[in-house]
Amino acid sequence: MRSWQVALLAVTVAVVVLSATAFQPRRIMYGRCSSDQKMPRAVFMTCANRRGVCEVRMGSRHNLRAIFIPDYNSTDVESYVRWNSWIEIKLPGQNQDACGVNINCPVVAGVPTRFTYTLDIQDFWLRNEYPVIWTLTDRETDETLVCFKFKITIV
Ligand SMILES: *[C@@H]1O[C@H](CO)[C@@H](O)[C@H](O)[C@H]1NC(C)=O
Repeated sequence: MRSWQVALLAVTVAVVVLSATAFQPRRIMYGRCSSDQKMPRAVFMTCANRRGVCEVRMGSRHNLRAIFIPDYNSTDVESYVRWNSWIEIKLPGQNQDACGVNINCPVVAGVPTRFTYTLDIQDFWLRNEYPVIWTLTDRETDETLVCFKFKITIV
């Protein structure tokens, strides 16, 4: 092999390895929870696919990032994520104390705020499409800071 062929091969291998292991974040579609609850400005997630409903792999970790502008100040934010099925099923083993881990506190009204979360896709779920509903609440007042719904497909 010539050196340029070796270089090309190395680049090709690197691209294949990178795309297989590191999921790139992309914008995902989301919906409003209810008319009186604040929606994020944008939600990003590391999906296994490039478009459509976000695919997540069993046994993998996928990062979520939501950007929103809160209407309230908060020093204690609760994160609550559940499947939005015919009954709401709370996802087990999730961190609910968001401050300092998933969000910088205090959250200040009117200031663009970032919430980040690493979702562990445990392997007891069935491969299926799941509607997810995510709420951030101020624990002191019980006010909803932001709420959004989206879908993921476990593959
Ligand atoms: C929210 O926090 C900011 C910054 O600390 C403060 O200036 C503002 O007065 C607070 N607003 C309310 C409603 O408490």
